[in-house]
Amino acid sequence: MPIPNTIFVLTGAGISAESGLGTFRDTDGVWARFDPMRLATPEGFAADPVLVHDFYNHRRRDTRAASPNPAHAALARLEAGLAERGGQLFLCTQNIDDLHERAGSRHVVHMHGELLRARCTACGTEPVWHEDLTVATACPDCGHGGGMRPDVVWFGEMPKHLEAIDEALSEADLFVAIGTSGAVYPAAGYVAQARAFGIPTLALTLEAADNAGMFEATRLGPASATVPAFVDEILSGRA
Ligand code: APR
Repeated sequence: MPIPNTIFVLTGAGISAESGLGTFRDTDGVWARFDPMRLATPEGFAADPVLVHDFYNHRRRDTRAASPNPAHAALARLEAGLAERGGQLFLCTQNIDDLHERAGSRHVVHMHGELLRARCTACGTEPVWHEDLTVATACPDCGHGGGMRPDVVWFGEMPKHLEAIDEALSEADLFVAIGTSGAVYPAAGYVAQARAFGIPTLALTLEAADNAGMFEATRLGPASATVPAFVDEILSGRA
C-alpha cells in the first residue's frame, strides 16, 4: 500500500475506555445501566430535564477527571507527523469528551457534539461549559433562564458537520475506525462509503464491530497498544 498521506480516522468510546470513561454497548456499558430513551433523546429531556441534567453533569465531571491515554496521544502525533510531510489527518469522533484535544489534537470534529459545551435553546449559542447545568441555568448570551441543555446530539437529532465529514472521507487515502461498535449511523456507514471510494479500510478495536465484515483489515487489542503501533508504522513509512 502506498504511504497514506490523507487519513480519515473515526473514533468511538473504545478509545476513551482506558481513560476510565465507559463505553456504551460493552457488557458494563452506559446503556446497560441507563435507559438511552430517557437520557439521550429530546423527548426524554422534555419529560425529565432534572434527570437528564444530572446524568450529563456526572459524565461532565467524569470527563474532567479523566486523562488522555496513549491512543489519544498517538493520534495527536499522527496529526503533526502527517502535516510535517504535507499530509493531513481528519479526526472525526463520535465521542463527546475532550480527551483528543487534551492529548494535543488540534483539529477534532465532534459529530455527536461536546459534553464541555452547553447550548441555549432560545438563542442557539454554544458556549464552553465545564460546570453543572440545571433547569435554572441562564444563558450567558441572551439571559434566557432554564433553556440550557448539553451541546450533545441525542438519538433522533441530526449529527453535526456531516457535509465536512463526507467531503473529507471522499478525499482520504486511508480510513481507520478506532474503538467503535459500528452500531450507530451515519458513522457506522462510513466504512462502506470509504470502500465505495476505493479507500483501504482498517479497524482497531477490542472486539470485532457490528460492521467488522466491511473492513479489509482488523487489528484486535486495546487502543493504548494498537493505535501507537499503527501511528509508528505510518510515520516510519512502514504502513
Ligand atoms: N480499546 C479499543 N477498543 C475498545 C476498548 C479498548 N480499550 N474497549 C472497548 N472497545 C471497543 C468495543 O469492542 C466496541 O466495539 O469500543 C467499542 C465501543 O462501542 P460502543 O460502546 O457502541 O461505542 P460507540 O461505537 O462509540 O457508540 C457510538 O452510540 O450511544 C451512541 O452517541 C453514542 O457516540 C456513541 C455512539
